[in-house]
Amino acid sequence: MTTGASHVLKKRLLLGITGGIAAYKAAELARLLTQGGIDVQVVMTQSACRFVGPVTFQSLTGNPVYSDLWETNAAQNMAHINLSRTVDMILVAPASADFIAGLAHGLADSLLATLCLARDCSLMIAPAMNRQMWENPATQRNLTMLRLDGIKIIGPASGEQACGEIGIGRMVEASVLAETVQAAFQTSSSLESKNVLVTAGPTFEAIDAVRGITNKSSGKMGYAIAQAAVEANAKVTLVSGPTCLAPPAVDKLIHVVSADDMLHAVQAEISETDIFISVAAVADYRVAKISSRKIKKSDKKFSVELIPNPDILLAVASLPRPPFCVGFAAETEDLEKNAEMKRRKKNLPLLVANLAQDAIGSDESELILLDDTGKHVLPKASKTEQARLLIKHISLLYKR
Ligand code: C5P
Repeated sequence: MTTGASHVLKKRLLLGITGGIAAYKAAELARLLTQGGIDVQVVMTQSACRFVGPVTFQSLTGNPVYSDLWETNAAQNMAHINLSRTVDMILVAPASADFIAGLAHGLADSLLATLCLARDCSLMIAPAMNRQMWENPATQRNLTMLRLDGIKIIGPASGEQACGEIGIGRMVEASVLAETVQAAFQTSSSLESKNVLVTAGPTFEAIDAVRGITNKSSGKMGYAIAQAAVEANAKVTLVSGPTCLAPPAVDKLIHVVSADDMLHAVQAEISETDIFISVAAVADYRVAKISSRKIKKSDKKFSVELIPNPDILLAVASLPRPPFCVGFAAETEDLEKNAEMKRRKKNLPLLVANLAQDAIGSDESELILLDDTGKHVLPKASKTEQARLLIKHISLLYKR
């Protein structure tokens, strides 16, 4: 686990720059994207380096710039594969006519071309060239092939060109490209067509006909997460223990009382579930023998035998093909240490830790997200806001 804490998982973009006078506009683009909270990794072709220096991009993004397919000193082993595996999207801006031709034919003659070929993320290009090069049937043929391959083409715009001519071929302005990238990331954090199962609230473990054991969980966090998943267009099932809350507009709401009821409700849904978010404060123990009648009061000592409840999350995470599982840990001390131990024990890709005394029953919470990329702190905010940030984080991790 890394020790450095960031607020949320940043989206990562590989910005490819090819040779053309519009390469100078890519500096502004790198600045806007970085300012917009995106982790930008620049890769330049050799000819792009003749127009703008890599140091400019290194300074603007804070990341090393790569350009050489044969770089032996690069920190990245097999850089061409690793770089494209660690990003969420590639944007080539400007994309020259020559680069577009190579891309259309699957060439791997530069580091950037190799990365575009060896990728499993989406690719967008912003062409920039002289108008006759743009209008040439060969270029148009190549662009048709790229469109068929699912590559998004942004622009070009028309206007005055570097060569003095007027026509179509100018690279779209940096601000427009930055907005397009942000919008594409927005869409990618949607959970459209995903089945999300959320458990929420406390459980109630009966002692007799009228009494029972429960805890102080209000269900607010679980309900807020179900609502945020609905907003992200997921198909949401909420399995709720006893709460006093108005339920969000989920696709399916299942009311349960005990941990055992909750386990059965979850098991019935799990084969259809893509993402399981276990927010419920499930009682760890239940009464061994529940009395069907109200137990009479007496002056004598009275004790009940408690037996462990099933661990619902552990059962789901241990399935041969588990959904993406998210756990919660409310701790009163040694928060991070205990939470990370739980994450490992239950083999969870993500665990959300909070201080029990701050979070339980309250409208606000500070959350610490622990995943394979490290620790991400969501400073104190309303549970509604935290839930939205958490759903974004989950969708990003899920899609990686
Ligand atoms: O109780 P514990 O701290 O281990 O809870 C961590 C996670 O496990 C929570 O996400 C909780 O919903 C889940 N859990 C469960 N079944 C239990 C106990 C906890 O699903 N019996």
